[in-house]
Amino acid sequence: MKYITLIILLSISKSLTFANTIKSLPDTLVHGKVLFDIDGKPINAHGPGVMYHQGVYYLFGEIKNGKTWLVPGQNWEDYRVPAGGISCYSSTDMKHWKYSGIALKPVVNDPDNDLDTGRVIERPKVIYNEHTKKFVMWMHIDKNDYNYSRGGVAISDSPAGPYKYLGGVKPNGQMLRDMTLFKDENNKAYLIYSSENNNTMHVCLLSDNYLKPTTTYVRIFENKRRESPAIFKNKGKYYLITSGCTGWSPNAASYAVADHVMGPWKELGNPCKGPNAEVTFFSQGAFVLPVTSKPGKFIFMGDVWNKTDLEKSRYLWLPLNFNDDKIEIHNP
Ligand code: DGJ
Repeated sequence: MKYITLIILLSISKSLTFANTIKSLPDTLVHGKVLFDIDGKPINAHGPGVMYHQGVYYLFGEIKNGKTWLVPGQNWEDYRVPAGGISCYSSTDMKHWKYSGIALKPVVNDPDNDLDTGRVIERPKVIYNEHTKKFVMWMHIDKNDYNYSRGGVAISDSPAGPYKYLGGVKPNGQMLRDMTLFKDENNKAYLIYSSENNNTMHVCLLSDNYLKPTTTYVRIFENKRRESPAIFKNKGKYYLITSGCTGWSPNAASYAVADHVMGPWKELGNPCKGPNAEVTFFSQGAFVLPVTSKPGKFIFMGDVWNKTDLEKSRYLWLPLNFNDDKIEIHNP
């Protein structure tokens, strides 16, 4: 009897899940606004990444915590912000977001610790390892001057966490700043990051458990100074959108296409079209989300940084359109 009740409950929850997946793209789009969770609180998840797992979208982002600190005397980086850890929000429709707590807690008064609130923790991304059954989070860990430049890795048994921090690494001895994570259909996973003092990007294959970089990596966009990588795959081709390096100020995005994640990558220019395309509609890309219920549909997710008060930064989520194998992003 118990078994039959369980089966019935499982099938009801499964059909509810599918009933709730994204029905209409316009509902899920955000035009440079503050986003609120279902309790009416502003969503604090910047430089975000989304993981879709068993009918639920999990949104992870930087908890910007309090006013931005002005660091005088630095040219390329005028602002930093106390690291507040990584938040998690969950949704079945990409519209109603439930706060699911702090996925990765910062630590207080421990300046030698990578997660100390005086450090920088940016651009968290999470993927699921089918083999180890663990959720793996990678993020950019830095010190105030952005010269520590490491990838931090954390692990959890459940999607929303809490995540256990395992440490920070310089893949193959190289700097890692703005980064993203990509899990391919064959379950191989890659770290993509600004390296070599932001001059050149690297794509590095991760170990099978996703916890370590391997020695297999390529250098791409050599001396092009690109950051904020956002990658996705459509019909066998890989697309990588990046921004230029102008701190928290917006600039023109650019994208590249490849037949393999390790390249070669063919650069195709700015995917944004229309007014303010040259400043990515005042945003900087963070992630491209494949809409699971609509194969071939993707949402470009950007941060509209408020550089004097990063916690008040807004979000820009726009549909990504295909024109053959070219992509276009419009801000209607
Ligand atoms: C732009 C990056 O993309 C952000 O993640 C952050 O690192 C800022 N630069 C710092 O200036």
